[in-house]
Parts: sequence; C-alpha cells; structure tokens
Amino acid sequence: MPVNERTHGKGIGFIDGDYMPFDDLRLPVTDLGFQLSDMCYDALHVRNGKFFRFDDHMDRWDRSISERRFDTLGYDREQTKRVLNDCVRQSELQDAMVYLVATRGTPAGPFKDLRTCKNRLIAWAVPYYNVVTDQEMQDGCDVIISDIVRIPSDSVDPTVKNFGRLDFCAALFEAYEKDARYAVLVDQNGNITEGRGWNIFALFGGRLLSPDSGVLEGITRRTVLELCDRLNIDGELAPIPADNLQDADEVFLTSTAGGLMPVRRIDGKAIGNSVPGPVTQRLTNLYWEIHDDPAYSTVVDYATPIDN
Ligand SMILES: Cc1ncc(COP(=O)(O)O)c(C=O)c1O
Repeated sequence: MPVNERTHGKGIGFIDGDYMPFDDLRLPVTDLGFQLSDMCYDALHVRNGKFFRFDDHMDRWDRSISERRFDTLGYDREQTKRVLNDCVRQSELQDAMVYLVATRGTPAGPFKDLRTCKNRLIAWAVPYYNVVTDQEMQDGCDVIISDIVRIPSDSVDPTVKNFGRLDFCAALFEAYEKDARYAVLVDQNGNITEGRGWNIFALFGGRLLSPDSGVLEGITRRTVLELCDRLNIDGELAPIPADNLQDADEVFLTSTAGGLMPVRRIDGKAIGNSVPGPVTQRLTNLYWEIHDDPAYSTVVDYATPIDN
C-alpha cells in the first residue's frame, strides 16, 4: 500500500502514564503546551523493526528538554526509551513514526505561573508516513520561497524542535495561492532556512549545500552529510542566498518522515534535467541501505512489556 494511504488508526499513544489507541489521545486545553506552544518534541522512526539513530534522537531530546526547562517530566532517558519502545511494541508496527512530546502542563492557579505546572510526557507510534505525497516522492515537490521571515533564532531557538509554527503557516498559505504545496522561509539576511517539517539541500556545480544556521539540526540532514563523505560528494553547511536557489542543479528536502524528497520546481522554475537528480538518487539509495546497519539502528523489543 502506498505509504501515505495508511491510516493513523493503528497507532498507540501514551499520556499521563497510560497507553491507549492513538485516536484516543487527548490534551486538556488548559495545558500551556496548547495555549503558549510551551512545548518541545522529537520525531524518530522505525524501519523493519529497528529504530533509526535512536540515541542521536535522544541526545537532541535531552538537550531540548533541558533548554526549555522541562525538569519535572518524571522519566529519565532510559525510561523514556522504554515508553517509546512500548508504543511501538503495542502497535505491532514494523515501520512507524514515533513522537516524543513534552508540554508545560496545566498551571495550578489563575495567574498561569509556569513554575506551578506539572510537565507532561506524551508519546505515540503510528504507521510510517512521508511529509509529502507518494506522487511528489516520484515527480518532485513544488516549493516557493516565501516572503515570510523565519522566526529569528534569537527569539526562538530553532534547534529545539517545537510546534510554534505560525511563520510556517503563513508561508504555506502563500504557497497554496501560488499553486504550490510547500514553502521555504528566509532569514533576516535573505538566506534560505527550512520549511515546515524539513531541511533543504541544494547542489551547485558539485557542492551540495544546506543552510548552516537558523534551522533545526535535522537527523536526516546530518545523515546526508555523513553519506556525502562515503560517496565522495562535497557536502557542506553554508549560507544559501535565496536569490541563488533557482540556479541549483538539484534540490531536495530532508525529514525523518520521508528521508530525501526531491524538488521539481522553485517559484515555478524547473530545477535540473531530471527528478530526482543523480546525486539525490545516489544519496537516497544509500540512506535507505544504512537502515539495516547496526551502527545506525536499534532493534525494537516486541516481546517484553514495559513492567517486566
Ligand atoms: C522545522 C523542521 N526542520 C527540519 C526537520 C527535519 O528534521 P529531522 O531530519 O530530524 O526529521 C523537521 C522535522 O520535523 C522540522 O520540523
């Protein structure tokens, strides 16, 4: 079945210490994660029964919860990993998207003092999906360069994964008006940053670049850069002026939910001669190959319930 036609119905959720069908997962509207976007999260995936880069995701998560001052979640790193394993185990999924969310919680009194909240840990595992459609995986995505400036890093640190995304929402409506489905945002200096749910790469005459600042340090982005070394591709983090992006030979997006996703047009202009371009294709092949490499993967324990 095409990956995005699967439903979320089969997933398992976890909140306030309880497991339940994903569709039953609910957050009280009093939680400041909802009211203030006072939350952070991470998203990882399971392929063929193995977590991909589990500890790298956990390192990013540990840094996020510490930077956002979530100090009362009640689960240490090993316990958190067991909760994630158990969501996957109970869902019986071999290929899953797995989410880990911390919210500030509900304040004790009317003054919404953040220090009175009991922080919440939420997790879920649902069938694996791509952030773009199956058709776009084949033919490439149409992306616009939005006029919207990404929320400056000095205001909200983009390396802490979060759902505060009104800049992305405004840019997406701009994209829909221009007959595209995706938007990449610029920073205050006119350089390319990222889109909702993905980092971006662009190939310029043998140099494969991805923005060096103002973005989430994506695990897929990091993997692609490591694979560049193996394939003798010159991959680097560097500023990409928005004015140059249409001149790229190849462009692709990267996300845990989809891996490498080719881009067909930027602001209506076709990119390269074929989609996916040859460099994108080589990296994509190797990206999925290394999912079976024990250096990158952790086998899901489908046998042991969490209490044992
Ligand atoms: C804003 C943003 N940038 C980049 C990414 C890609 O990160 P990763 O490769 O770790 O999935 C995501 C993933 O959700 C994201 O939300």
